[in-house]
Amino acid sequence: MNPPEQTLAQPTDEELLPWGDPEFRRAPWPWFARLVEQYPIVRLEDGSYVVTGYDLVVRHAKDRSLVSVSEEDLGTGPWAANDSMVLRKDGEEHTALRRTFAPFFTLKAMDALVEAIADQTRTSLDEVGQDGILLEAHRQLGVMPQMAGIAQVMGLPLEDASEMVHATNLTMMGMTWDPSPDDVVRAYEGFGYMLTRVDTLIRWKREHRGDGSLVDHWLTLIDEGKITERSVKEHLQAFWAGAGHNPGYVLACALVAFDEHPGLLAIYRDEPAAREPILDEVIRLAAPELALDRYTTEPLEIGGMNVPTGASLRFILGAALRDPAVFENPDQFDHRRPKEANMGIAFGLGRHTCPGMNFARVSLRTALTCVAERYEKVEVIGEPDWKFSDRHRNCEGITVRFLA
Ligand code: HEM
Repeated sequence: MNPPEQTLAQPTDEELLPWGDPEFRRAPWPWFARLVEQYPIVRLEDGSYVVTGYDLVVRHAKDRSLVSVSEEDLGTGPWAANDSMVLRKDGEEHTALRRTFAPFFTLKAMDALVEAIADQTRTSLDEVGQDGILLEAHRQLGVMPQMAGIAQVMGLPLEDASEMVHATNLTMMGMTWDPSPDDVVRAYEGFGYMLTRVDTLIRWKREHRGDGSLVDHWLTLIDEGKITERSVKEHLQAFWAGAGHNPGYVLACALVAFDEHPGLLAIYRDEPAAREPILDEVIRLAAPELALDRYTTEPLEIGGMNVPTGASLRFILGAALRDPAVFENPDQFDHRRPKEANMGIAFGLGRHTCPGMNFARVSLRTALTCVAERYEKVEVIGEPDWKFSDRHRNCEGITVRFLA
């Protein structure tokens, strides 16, 4: 049974989580703060559950009985385009697929990418004008360096993947709480664009085999009948587009943080030990993937509530990462805050934890270090081209002025 105080006094869903409200989409933090404090788990009128409290999210989002796609959702909607991908698999199939690429994303494997990422960042910084302005800072620093890294992992030629980032943002709109018919059409288009692009890359790789790269390895597994061509296509799409997608947004948020906190870029440059905590704090506040959606396959008890089999659960990482019980003054940027809480939950929890985490951290750290080597301050010019929904936060453009 649900705790009586929650069922009696609970505000309406619209008051608690106005998913479609533009202000909620822009900055959901006050709504999340109220949930964390008063309803760390709440049952909505449609029978789904939303979990926001840090402790509950950390304890339950990794429950291995949860699955990432409900039976009704499999094979339907725009995201069915990724039904062969790890994100939409669970159990042994999921583990086997992760094994096909995991060795290519270890910390050691990432070390080998630093030079290519740094070289590309310096090339991008050469675009900074006499006036210190970098018009396309999101693309130049948040997409191109990351593409240099992922191109090396995949054994593919470097290309500007800004359109892949845009297409990914379109697909993310199809994952919102209540997508409009137009959102759904655009999500289909987003997948169509990306999968067509990936076809070309796979064709190119078939003619350039033998370098031991990840795509080379996947093609060998196809030849051996150990993975399907479709699965390789979807995974390559996810990694090729993913390289600059969330990292590009975090990079833009880092530039905003450097603007808002004069002196922070100099700290980043002069105190190497502060680099990881600064990046952690940027990622905590940025929370690119606001939520994880899961479905129960057995009854669960979460925070005193009985959640039945087949229920939809939304774990809001963006709320947990600002739970004041864990992060004091949670809305403030403070890279010196105590380390006892795990900010890594921004990369998810449990079986679906982000396989691109090491890649993202290395590429961001390298790009920001190159910026700090050349400049003392950053000013953001105008409003970045943010792409916010109730489920994700991203960016497609930011212009900055660098001061030496
Ligand atoms: C700051 C950067 C990033 C953040 C915050 C982030 C966040 C996340 C989160 C929260 C999940 C879990 C989704 C879920 O459980 O439903 C996830 C999964 C995933 N991410 Fe990332 N991500 C980042 C960068 C990347 C990069 C760079 C790549 C690839 C190059 C990538 C590829 C993936 C894939 C393939 C999955 C699915 C894993 C699975 O289902 O087993 N991500 N990411």
